[in-house]
Amino acid sequence: MPDLSWNTSLWGDNYGWEEAGEEWSVPWGGSEAQWYGSLFPRLHRLLPASSILEIAPGYGRWTRFLLPNCERYLGIDLNASCVEACRNRFSNASHARFESNDGLSLAAAPDASFDVVFSFDSLVHAEIDVLQAYVAEILRKLKPGGTAFIHHSNYAQSQLVEGQNDHSRAHSVSASAVADLVSVHGGQMVVQEVVTWIDAALLDCLTMFRRPAGQAEVPAPVHLSNPYFADEARLIAHFQAPYSAI
Ligand SMILES: C[S@@+](CC[C@H](N)C(=O)[O-])C[C@H]1O[C@@H](n2cnc3c(N)ncnc32)[C@H](O)[C@@H]1O
Repeated sequence: MPDLSWNTSLWGDNYGWEEAGEEWSVPWGGSEAQWYGSLFPRLHRLLPASSILEIAPGYGRWTRFLLPNCERYLGIDLNASCVEACRNRFSNASHARFESNDGLSLAAAPDASFDVVFSFDSLVHAEIDVLQAYVAEILRKLKPGGTAFIHHSNYAQSQLVEGQNDHSRAHSVSASAVADLVSVHGGQMVVQEVVTWIDAALLDCLTMFRRPAGQAEVPAPVHLSNPYFADEARLIAHFQAPYSAI
């Protein structure tokens, strides 16, 4: 079970980090192709943003694309070694700050001060207690009308066959459990996309939700079930990644 101690010891002491997380972008042909081919198309309405909060940046695989898209950036990670790595890697970015936390609290972030909260490829290993704490915290840290995009497990609804690779996903989390948390804490669901992960059916979920702004009319949430996310990665690796090499 990937609880907080699992996340602390794996990513803090026991992971090599020689490639700074680039190894996880191989199915997309690299992080640049993955950002522009897969993540940016889903985020483009939110960027650039005045202020961005990234949860669990690791060694900064996505931070390097978020920094040019904001005037103020805060990265919060459970592991002090990851924070140190980001501080070194992005030492020239005067608008960026990195802090460590206990894996549950975003106290380092001022309330109501972020346009965008982003987390990708980290909270998939977070169980429901962490999501419960973070959804409430995220809604506190967003400005009214601000939007969060978080990638988390859908294991509990994925119908993964026993013995299939679960990619260390949190077993207690599902798309609908996170949707309930968003609603309970007063957020508005924008888009929820359940996706395949590499070889595993609908194991993950991308949830975009918003802190309500006044009496503005709320569009109906979009629910997507995407069995082609891994195929999308293969197409990006094949036909877009070569453009990252020019
Ligand atoms: C697989 S790495 C991914 C890092 C980065 N998002 C990327 O895609 O390259 C997971 C990261 O999540 C961090 N992490 C895990 N659980 C966390 C939590 N509850 N709060 C904050 N950071 C957490 C770890 O310390 C590690 O840096």
